[in-house]
Amino acid sequence: MTRKLFVTTALPYANAAFHIGHMMEYIQADIWVRFQRMQRDGVDGEYRPREVHFVGADDTHGTPIMIAAEKEGITPQEFVAKIAAGRAQYLDGFHIAFDNWYSTDSPENVELSQGIYRKLRDNGLIQTKTVDRFFDPVKGMFLADRNIKGECPKCGAKDQYGDNCEVCGAAYQPTDLVNPYSVFTNATPVLKPSEQYFFKLSDPRCFEFLRDWLNTPGRLQPEMVNKVSEWLGEAGEKLADWDISRDAPYFGIPIPDAPGKFFYVWLDAPVGYLASLKNYFGKQGIDYDAFLRDPAAEQIHFIGKDIVSFHLLFWPAMLKFAGHPVIDNLKVNVHGHLTVNNEKMSKSRGTGISPLRYLNLGMNPEWLRYYIAFKLNSKVEDLDFTGEDFVARVNSDLIGKYVNIASRCAGFIAKKFDGKLAGELSHHAHDWIKRALTNAEGHVRADAIALSYENREFGKALREIMEIADVTNQYVDENKPWVLAKDETKLAELHEVCTTALILFRQLTILLSPVLPGVAANVRAFLNDGALTWADTGLEAASSAMLGRTIGAYTHLMTRVDAKMIDELFDAPKPAAAAPAANPVSAAPVSAAPATGAGSDTSIEPLAAEIKIDDFAKIDLRIAKIVNCEHVEGSDKLLRLTLDVGEGRHRNVFSGIKSMYQPADLVGKLTVLVANLAPRKMKFGISEGMVLAASAADEKANPGIYILNPWPGAEPGMRIR
Ligand code: 2FM
Ligand code: ZN
Repeated sequence: MTRKLFVTTALPYANAAFHIGHMMEYIQADIWVRFQRMQRDGVDGEYRPREVHFVGADDTHGTPIMIAAEKEGITPQEFVAKIAAGRAQYLDGFHIAFDNWYSTDSPENVELSQGIYRKLRDNGLIQTKTVDRFFDPVKGMFLADRNIKGECPKCGAKDQYGDNCEVCGAAYQPTDLVNPYSVFTNATPVLKPSEQYFFKLSDPRCFEFLRDWLNTPGRLQPEMVNKVSEWLGEAGEKLADWDISRDAPYFGIPIPDAPGKFFYVWLDAPVGYLASLKNYFGKQGIDYDAFLRDPAAEQIHFIGKDIVSFHLLFWPAMLKFAGHPVIDNLKVNVHGHLTVNNEKMSKSRGTGISPLRYLNLGMNPEWLRYYIAFKLNSKVEDLDFTGEDFVARVNSDLIGKYVNIASRCAGFIAKKFDGKLAGELSHHAHDWIKRALTNAEGHVRADAIALSYENREFGKALREIMEIADVTNQYVDENKPWVLAKDETKLAELHEVCTTALILFRQLTILLSPVLPGVAANVRAFLNDGALTWADTGLEAASSAMLGRTIGAYTHLMTRVDAKMIDELFDAPKPAAAAPAANPVSAAPVSAAPATGAGSDTSIEPLAAEIKIDDFAKIDLRIAKIVNCEHVEGSDKLLRLTLDVGEGRHRNVFSGIKSMYQPADLVGKLTVLVANLAPRKMKFGISEGMVLAASAADEKANPGIYILNPWPGAEPGMRIR
């Protein structure tokens, strides 16, 4: 039977750019997928390529995106489209080869989500209840789970969202939070009755199904089976019904026959996996329903440990009772989080790694792919990124062990043998090939490596691959082609040594290609190879394909990591001495004359040309309240301010004051806004005005930049005259 794999990664919320944690998950899944694409399955005595479909999408619905769009004065669809447009640079940049990238805000997702809902309803698994929901009395709207924070009812962690705890992973209702508050107004939410739609997870059928599903051998990681079993309880007594509805206004999919009610985003988000597959199949002319009915079809999700409850309780139960045929071949692979120097990543501590900065620094994406793969196993363990470890691992393995083989041998083939490899090898050379490609027990290493890839034991696979590289280097070191090349009588020996080394180099490349697809493509070109599959590994295939072949010119395959790049990679908070903003932060000095004596304590910047009161009146200065303030990913100067100028809407303004203030310092404070400045389109979004701040003419001597703060009594919207 040819395996047919439908593989996904968690759908990222469409309200922010990717961070390095996303890239880790995509790299993990992409390596697994690329490995699968190299496999052939036997059918009726014939080998056929394994069928693999790897899809992703943006997770677009829910209140945070609705609110973020509102802040920017655009529709949620426009907001989501802007985020989606930024995805390719990351995916292409790190060689992540999704077959399709789609959106949960799509006709397919509406149809599939509503279809699943109807089937659950027909199965008696939907129930309505009038429940008290949190309502923000200041803002006048029902609060979504993510608009409420408080203490986790299970572990007591502070500032956890209303749906699940990022510390202990528990899922709960917002009303379970201890000391809840509205994230918009800090007001204590009040309870208001509302009719809600529930998925009856407490139904005994759900427990019975989940218990068996979880415990199917090989389906889930043992630590996940334990965790979810705890959530089920002995007899399902811990399973609570799940509220799947939200009240308008909500950016989401309408619940059929329920005016004013929408699916909670976590209902339609995983359905987005199916929507992306369906959309892709539509474009490819593949029959979606037939694929799902095929007993060979497997559905495999890669997710992080923070979203386990959605994927291991609700999602399988939904699929089961909606009659999804692949349920018996559904697997969920859970990974830990990425930490930096063993700490949770934090921008303010300067430990965040921006994927785009990584690429913009000219760092090779395949260094990161290798490093991440080297540290990955099949357990739900956090993966730590440490700068020195990264440099050492990449330089020692990829450059010192792998690339080195080709760079030491390929030149001789070109110079001395017109690019042609030897046509036959001695027993001695064959023995070395065997020694490299089989382990101490005589088993072909490629088989063990395949098993490690299949089981997501990538570190184990790479360690074994590096053992092949070690033996190959030992062979080259013992035979010293650079010495042989100096002796005209040793040409045949030189030919054999370089040919043997390149045969093994090619094997290494095939085995590494799921991790290093870019390097592998260059090696294929250099060795005049076609597409390579796992069938090209192994003792026989290794040399037979290469003997007598003419190869191309060796081009440099990969450089070493320069340790200096690592310092630049981290978003270290800039010391105050760094240059302040290059953006509209303070009214720029109008004077043409450079400041004289700048830097001395007494001198000030020369005054600008005189104006009349009418000139001044053209500038509409208003009191603005900073209701929110955030870092801007990818910018080391800007903060993003959300301002209330009393207009009944919020303004988005960028300000180059990051070197002086932490966002938390500014939230709730008043300042002064140039309110009638034409909106300016910046790299990170539109800036609707400019806040005033003071700075010295000579930024080097005095780099400080000081935002204005009116006296108490001033109110948002008041004009400054
Ligand atoms: O946690 C998250 O980022 C969610 N957007 C993941 C959704 S995964 C799937 F269900 F869509
Ligand atoms: Zn908790």
